[in-house]
Amino acid sequence: MQRSHLNRQVWSFSLFFCLAIVVCESFHYSVPEEKKSGSLVANVLKDLKVDVKELSARRARLVSEGTKQYFQLDPHSGNVIVQDRIDREALCGQQDPCVLFSEIMLENPLQVHRIEVQIEDVNDNSPQFSKMEFLFEIPEQTPLNTRFLLESATDADRGENAVQNYTLSLNNHFRLDVQSHDDGSKSAELVLERQLDRKENVRLFLILAAIDGGTPKRTGTAKIVIEVLDNNDNVPQFQQSLYKVKLRENASPNALVAKVEATDKDLGSNADITYSFNQVPENILRSFKLNKNTGELAVAGIIDYEENRNYGINIKATDGGGLSAYCKIIVEVEDMNDNAPEVMLTSLTSPLPEDSPPDTAVALFRVTDRDSGDNGRTSCTIEANLPFKLKAHANSYYQLVTQQALDREKASEYNITITATDQGSPRLSSIRMISVQISDINDNSPVFEKSTYEMHLWENNIPGLLIGLVQAKDLDNNKNAKVSYSLLPGKVSDQPVSSYVSINSETGNLYAIRSVDYEQVKDFHVTVRAVDGGSPPLSSQVMVRVVVVDENDNAPFILYPLQNGTSPSNDLVPRGAEAGYLVTKVVAVDRDSGQNSWLSYELLKATEPGLFSVGAQNGEVKTTRPINKRDTIKQKLIIGVRDNGHPAQSTSAALSILLVDGFSDPFMKMVEIPKEEVVGEEDRTLTMYLVICLAVISSIFLVSMLAFVAIKIHKRRRFIESSALNFPVGPNFPENCRDADGGSLSRAYNYEVCLAGGSLSSEFRFLRPLFPVFSVEPAQSQGPQKIVSGSHEISCNGAEVMNQARGAASEDAAARPGGPGGTGNQPITANANLGQNDWLSYQ
Ligand SMILES: *[C@@H]1O[C@H](CO)[C@@H](O)[C@H](O)[C@H]1NC(C)=O
Repeated sequence: MQRSHLNRQVWSFSLFFCLAIVVCESFHYSVPEEKKSGSLVANVLKDLKVDVKELSARRARLVSEGTKQYFQLDPHSGNVIVQDRIDREALCGQQDPCVLFSEIMLENPLQVHRIEVQIEDVNDNSPQFSKMEFLFEIPEQTPLNTRFLLESATDADRGENAVQNYTLSLNNHFRLDVQSHDDGSKSAELVLERQLDRKENVRLFLILAAIDGGTPKRTGTAKIVIEVLDNNDNVPQFQQSLYKVKLRENASPNALVAKVEATDKDLGSNADITYSFNQVPENILRSFKLNKNTGELAVAGIIDYEENRNYGINIKATDGGGLSAYCKIIVEVEDMNDNAPEVMLTSLTSPLPEDSPPDTAVALFRVTDRDSGDNGRTSCTIEANLPFKLKAHANSYYQLVTQQALDREKASEYNITITATDQGSPRLSSIRMISVQISDINDNSPVFEKSTYEMHLWENNIPGLLIGLVQAKDLDNNKNAKVSYSLLPGKVSDQPVSSYVSINSETGNLYAIRSVDYEQVKDFHVTVRAVDGGSPPLSSQVMVRVVVVDENDNAPFILYPLQNGTSPSNDLVPRGAEAGYLVTKVVAVDRDSGQNSWLSYELLKATEPGLFSVGAQNGEVKTTRPINKRDTIKQKLIIGVRDNGHPAQSTSAALSILLVDGFSDPFMKMVEIPKEEVVGEEDRTLTMYLVICLAVISSIFLVSMLAFVAIKIHKRRRFIESSALNFPVGPNFPENCRDADGGSLSRAYNYEVCLAGGSLSSEFRFLRPLFPVFSVEPAQSQGPQKIVSGSHEISCNGAEVMNQARGAASEDAAARPGGPGGTGNQPITANANLGQNDWLSYQ
């Protein structure tokens, strides 16, 4: 590469163009033609003022105009190199200088630099004559110094490399006169120096050589044959030496272009004129034909304004005697609108991020039209209703920019049709489709399919059980739509929620980690978070309510009569009781809920079958017939209690009943009744003794009672003082109540049975605690002990349980409706917490 070729010049025809957004500069380089592929043209780093790193980072690339890419840019070195062999003659023909235009595009910011590479000629073509042999017919009396124009040789090379000189072989008659012209071309003429004599030589043979100025020199030769003719006095004469005609491009073959005419004053064959092209280049021979008899010039090939705007055609008229005259036709080609505009895309940003702000450059292109004038004036449009618009810049550059915000979720791709139209008549247009992909930005949060979820979990589940599935969708794409799930921290009855459930971060499956007890946790809430994979990630949350479903996993628990393994309680029944007498009521609870806690009672075993019955719904133990003398005093009943679960759970209660005499009247009468009975039947003496005995016994009894009461009151005062509890004490305490424990109730439950006089069917009045007792818990209970100083009241028919508890037991204790078939006598089902945590008291 010669350094001289690298010099930068500004040529007069250089186009200076500038875009508003494009920093532009033109660079000029030159390279000889016929260089091997890979040869260096220039290094653009210095001109672009960038270094190699920046060059590749900004995705520099070279775009050539036209279809063929002669050069390429090596982004790693900044070298512009020859990609394909360049033949200057094929590329530019006679055009000089021969320049190839390219652009170097740089991104961020977008820059376009114009590169102009001049292709320099090398002497790769020899001079050439259009024919191997030229015939001259010259009359013998032709005067000396007559000149005969010789056809110039052509040389496809330019300048020094074109034809520089002509030589002629040695001969006796002619010399060669070489003339230089203003345009640098040379022509040669034969000059007659010695008279021709047909008798001496009918025919002469000369060799004409054309020599170019290249190194090394190249030559081309042609043979010149000279026929010596007899006399011919007159030379043909053209009517005009120059004809100027206009010709539309694309004129059809055989269309007449011009007609030349020459005359000759001779007679006979010396006046016969034939026309021929004189020294015309190849392209004229291809485009035009000449009728040698009429002198009509017609179209023979393609007339293309874009290739050749005018032609100079030399025509020779020769008479039969060999004398010639010359004229020239100048054909000016008129432009037609025969070229559609062309859209040349120089840069395209695709995919385009969806968050690109308005006015972001998407593409840069240039519209060219090979026609001239209006035919080459172009305009450019794109379809309406697109979020893009065109910005026109100088030199038919257009920029496609965004006009409004984009949303990949609505349109992920745009096919934009660019229509370029020229102003010719008729108008020609061309379209070019560019496809712009919109790339995703993480602008959508995951969205759960439901606003809240409810899932059911059976209690006593196995750990690891799948509870349910939450799912969130994300409208974004790929990674931005990849949702992962997690649990937010929370508490379930004072324990972290993560100890209850876990979530599969990919599928959203919720699993139970531990076995859940309905009796402890009835439901709980879990907050699930869905996060997408974008950067930064977006998230959303949803509340999942896990409802624990009850299973029948608790057997009924008997509250009364107490079943603690010690001697069973005794219920008293007067022997005079009629059928239907309410003996007692079995009270049981079930810690389960719903059907699982609906209890039913049945009599399993009885000392005297048929004497007692148990209400299936309410657990009331009644007599079924009057008691007769044969019934034993001590009756024992086994009562089964069963819940309504599947499978059902059951338990049984043992009940002791004592049949007692004289128990039908009010208590106050009880003491007197024996007296009346005694007085009524025995004789007076006996009665007297008895009365005395009775009086003595009564006195002793009275004294001991008084002593006992005094001690008791004293003890109770001490107890009240020490326990600071407030109980009804002292004289108000009903004396007519007999302590019914009789050893049958445990230390935990201490009841007073108050038997009131009156109706037999209403003796069972109250169960009332004397005072709360610190005690061991009931047999089945596992919970902590509690003291409740409150009372539950059971009315005589057991219709309802009035909760008067002042303590914590009140919250869950509630009267429940009776089971199916219940007729006012409803089963009492206390709450599950009742048996476990609370001491119950009945009044
Ligand atoms: C854009 O053109 C391509 C190729 O012709 C086609 O596959 C695609 O569906 C088009 N897209 C739109 C949005 O029209």
